[in-house]
This record gives sequence, structure tokens and C-alpha cells, in this order.
Amino acid sequence: MRRLFFALSCLVGCSDEAPPAPPADIAFGERGSLVSPEGKGSFRFGAASAATQIEDQNENTDWWIFTAPEDQGGLGKGKAFVGDASKGYEKALEDVALLRELGLDSYRFSIEWARVEPARDMIDEAALDHYGAFIDALIAAGIEPVITLHHFANPIWVADPRDPECMMGVSDLNLCGLGHPQGGPEIVAEAAELAQLLAEHFGDRVDVWGTVNEPVNYLLAAYGVGTFPPGRTLILAEDTLLGGFVPVVRDYLRFHAAMYQAIRQYDTADADGDGRPADIGLTLNVGSFVPSRDNAVSSEPADVAARDRVVALYHHMFIETLRQGRFDSDLDGAADEDLPEVAGTIDWLGVQYYFRAGVTADPGLVPVLALTPCFGTFDFGSCVPPVNADFTKCVPSMRYEYYEPGVYEVLKDFAARWADLPLFVSESGIATEVGRRRAEHVVRSLEQIARARDEGVDVRGYFHWSLFDNFEWAEGFDPRFGLYHVDYATYARTATEGAHALSDIAHTRGISGTQRTDLGGTGPMTAEPAFVAGEHCSE
Ligand code: BGC
Repeated sequence: MRRLFFALSCLVGCSDEAPPAPPADIAFGERGSLVSPEGKGSFRFGAASAATQIEDQNENTDWWIFTAPEDQGGLGKGKAFVGDASKGYEKALEDVALLRELGLDSYRFSIEWARVEPARDMIDEAALDHYGAFIDALIAAGIEPVITLHHFANPIWVADPRDPECMMGVSDLNLCGLGHPQGGPEIVAEAAELAQLLAEHFGDRVDVWGTVNEPVNYLLAAYGVGTFPPGRTLILAEDTLLGGFVPVVRDYLRFHAAMYQAIRQYDTADADGDGRPADIGLTLNVGSFVPSRDNAVSSEPADVAARDRVVALYHHMFIETLRQGRFDSDLDGAADEDLPEVAGTIDWLGVQYYFRAGVTADPGLVPVLALTPCFGTFDFGSCVPPVNADFTKCVPSMRYEYYEPGVYEVLKDFAARWADLPLFVSESGIATEVGRRRAEHVVRSLEQIARARDEGVDVRGYFHWSLFDNFEWAEGFDPRFGLYHVDYATYARTATEGAHALSDIAHTRGISGTQRTDLGGTGPMTAEPAFVAGEHCSE
């Protein structure tokens, strides 16, 4: 009958090709170790968050001071005051039920340094107890904790954003931030003490540790362009780039390595029975960078070289330094300085993929690197045509293009470059108010991860960003990344269509062909009604 219909329809002009076969089911395999060699071929489904973005009343963080209104003693920076965020501290134990409901087996979250050590060398035991109880609740629910130690926030005493230039000098109240000749090494030593404290307290229950989150993004935002505390702007001129920003990067490499060594030394308990007490890595921001010119993909050698410069700095530099113990101190793409204290301090790498961006060899925006990227609203003819144009123009999206195939490209590159480095996708998500769009993003991202796995890349997991809506740093509360929607009047959490899609996948450990037909692929996504109506759009 179907054949007859097909034959008849061809009479009115179609070719005699068979209709495309529906996509096949994808199976991700069993839950296994994220890092150890025995876990090869296994897969984890998780969600991720960060303390400052979800926890209420984190008043000893630099973000509190940075975003609090001036009449409350703050600096009034960013789009919103972090305040109660998503009440994730008060509701921590209740929120475990959300993870269970989704059928997730892992949760990546951070411990707020400023809560644990609100003043220098003063440890808050109640905060440690809180995190201990949370870890116990996760484990009781069959969910493995993956802990980040440093996710974009500090206690105020590490780098007080009210005195970013350190006019008052270094003291226990302000170590004056990374890169400061006296304060920098003290901060590195403090990072080691923090890691020791957490390893001693939680090492019996935790095996997978992440030291720093998105080092390149963090350093650029906090010390490069000043959109994060402490608010320094060191990359805007060549002398401060090399004389100010490079020492910041060097300190952060040491900060990571000091944490790595402390956890290695003080977490000696094998919590999950895989014979390894601690697997210590970090999570890295990545993108899909495309050579561009006149708002089109370019094959000009100069644009390709400009793209390669971005990829070398954004994707490779930090990891190569940790693997080789050699640092590129003039950012020219070649390592020129020995940094033996950081060598060999990475056991796994978390990939955090969100966007696609064009890069053109016009020195306009970043003269030091002789290039101009297309990012968010910075469209200077360097963009490539997006699949969903509304994303790049309208809030509450992040105004960059979500382009799911990019995660495949990055996984392939990393597996070829660092064959021995275990990989998992430690963040992937989308800012949207349309549940179906989030569901499409989940399915499409996992399809791209499966494609990489089919081609031999041993990627062990997918952690969706984020479990529920939260404080999106300098962007405030407009972008909604949550699998669960948060009502900021009541703090109620409600599952979005994205949560239902991920839940189906996690429970069956696979994506059905039907779900792929409905939500998968690479074409345009479901439209965002507010965008169609032209609301919140820049044109
Ligand atoms: C960060 C998160 C952030 C997310 C979405 C990542 O850069 O690790 O803290 O909320 O992306 O922008």
C-alpha cells in the first residue's frame, strides 16, 4: 500500500528514490567509571551546576559584593544582584529528588569556597557538614558526586573587587588576586589548603574531582575584560596583556596544580571500588570556530590562520601546558618557558561546548592577536550564517549560536591530540524558554556525541547544564538554562520538556529512533514565540 502511494505520488513529480529510512536507535551502554580504563565503552548521564549560581545568601563571595546594589554596600555590577540565586542551599536535599526523577547517575556541582572559609583560615564546620549531608544524600540515591573546587567565584579575601588595583596593599582581608607578585603565590598556597581540607573531609565518598572550571573563560572575564570580579581589564593593551594578564594565567596554572597535588596526597580512599582513590581533572570551555569573512565561511589562508590562533589559545594552550610543563609566555602559539611544577597534573578532561563563532583576520577587535571573532552581539562582519538566526539576536538566549555538530568536531580533535586523556562532556545546554527547543538540544547534542563514539572516541558521559534555572553570572537571571524551570517568586521547580527528553534517554540509556525523528537532526529548531513576535530582539 505504502509502495503504491509512493508510486502514485511520483506521478506528480517526485524522484523514484526511496523515502529516507527513519534514524536508528542509539544505545549508550552501561554506567561505568568516568575515568578508569575499565570504564571504556560505558556512559554516564548527569547534570551540572555551580554553587554561586544556585545557592542562597552566599554573602562572602566576590559575586555578592560585585553585584549587590551600591546602597547595600556593593558595586552594583552585572545585570542582577545574585541574592538568593535559586535557593539551592536551603533546598539542596529536596533537589536530590529532581535528579532521581530524571534517572541521572551523576551530578557535577561545586563547593563554595567562601562558605567553607568565609575569612582567611577560618573554617565553617557547619558548611562542611551541609556539603557532607548533600553528598550522602546523592550517594543514597545512587548518584555519583563529581565535585568542582573552583567555579568562577572566590571568597572576598582572595581578591576584593572593591580594591581591584590593590591600592591598600596585601592583607588577610585582600590577597589582591592572581598575578599579584605577593598575593598570587599566597592564593596558590590557599588553594592547596582548601583542596586538602575537602579531600580529607569528602575523599571517602568522592573519587572524581575537578579543580578549575573553564580557566580561559574565567581568566578572560575576571582579569581580561572585567565582566566578572575582581573586574580587571588586562588584555586591552599589549603591555598589560603580557605584563599583567600572563602572570595571572601562570598563577592559575599553579593554582590548579596545587589543588591537584593536594587531592592526590589527601584523598587516599577508593570510594567507588574501581581501585583508584582520586581522578583529578578540569573542565574546559570549547567552541566551534569557523574562518569567516563578510559574514560567510572563508577559505582565505589568513582567516584560517586567525581561526587556528583562537583554537590554539582557547582549546589547547592550558591543557598542553599541564601535559608538557611548558608555558607559552608570550602567547605566540609556541611554548617558551619551563613550568615543571604543573607537569602531569591532569587525569581527565571535561568538555563544555555551547556555541559556534566565526573568526576573521581583521585586527579590529583583538589587535594583539590580529583577529576579530563574531560573538554574541559583536558582529563586525565576522559571523557565519547561523542555523537559527533568532538565537543570535534575542534575549533570553545568550546571543551566540548553538550549533550541536560542533561538539563532535571538538571531541574528535581532542581524542586525536590527547589519545590517553579520558573525556566526558561536563557541560552542554541552551538558554531558552521553550521546552521543546531544550529537548531538541539534548537529543541533538547526544546524537553528536554518539557519532564521535561510533568513530572510536571514548567519551564517557554527558552532564546537562543545568539542573534548574540559575544566576547566569554577568547576564543575571534572564537566560534560563534549567531542565527545571524556577519560579523566582516561589522557587518552585517545574520540569520542562527538556527534562522529559533527558529522563527518557537516561532511563533507557539510549535515544529511540522515534525520539530522533521528533527532536534530532541539525536543521532549524522550534521557534521561540517571543522571538517570532520580535520581542527582546536587537533588530
Ligand atoms: C559555565 C557555567 C555557565 C554556563 C552557561 C559555562 O560557561 O561553566 O557557569 O552558567 O556556561 O553560560
